[in-house]
Amino acid sequence: MTTPLRVVEDWARDYVLATELEAKLSPPEAPSRWAAVPRVERIAAPGRPVELAVLDKSIRSLRAPELKDARKRARLVHAMAHHELQAAELFAWAILAFADAPFAFRAGLLRICLDELRHLRAYARCLTALGSGYGEHPVRDWFWQRVPSCATPLQFVALVGLGLEGGNLDHAAHHAAEFAELGDEKTAAVQRMIEREEIEHVRFAARWFAEWTGGLDFERWRRELVAPLTPTMMRGKAINRAARAEAGLDEAFLDALAAWGGTDA
Ligand SMILES: [Fe+2]
Ligand SMILES: [Fe+2]
Repeated sequence: MTTPLRVVEDWARDYVLATELEAKLSPPEAPSRWAAVPRVERIAAPGRPVELAVLDKSIRSLRAPELKDARKRARLVHAMAHHELQAAELFAWAILAFADAPFAFRAGLLRICLDELRHLRAYARCLTALGSGYGEHPVRDWFWQRVPSCATPLQFVALVGLGLEGGNLDHAAHHAAEFAELGDEKTAAVQRMIEREEIEHVRFAARWFAEWTGGLDFERWRRELVAPLTPTMMRGKAINRAARAEAGLDEAFLDALAAWGGTDA
């Protein structure tokens, strides 16, 4: 009896459910074959290695002066690394959850998943340079608490691509400047690299959102964000207009994002 050839969908499932830290950081190479008839599958929760202690509550954010201390800075970099892990897992999750979406979309999900894995490893190397390591601090699975509520690929690109990754363009620019000022050029360089690559991820979301709704309208985007999320949570203190424009968001969208009022209306 021959074992059936593994397909991308098997790889994605194994990645989400893996319970070894090594498998989260360096999974085997993704197969080039896809399932002939993919089955929609919604994984409820990711596997978590014992090293990653998952907290329910948010962790106190560090104040700027505390970041001068490399050990405390490592805590912040660890949180960023964990965002990348959740992103990699959730793009793998989406390959299965939206198995009935167009193939070009699903192929894009895999490409982005592999980018997120590289981002995770880049932050893991920064952690080593800071005398720490991925798995040494507690984590929160906030993205996992929200993203699986997306019922459609449209809601997924609205929340993950235009929302979280769009917001990350604001945060990455802020952190790169902050880390460079602290003399941590290694981490700052990783943040700049990630910012460049995330522009492509936001562009991917903008393109599919426009394809499925006939344009990129701010109000429509806001309505596609799963409750209780709002645009407030999808932007940094300063909106990185240049990077977001490069990703394909037009002036009208960016003006509406900047003007969006209320904290969590
Ligand atoms: Fe990323
Ligand atoms: Fe991304």
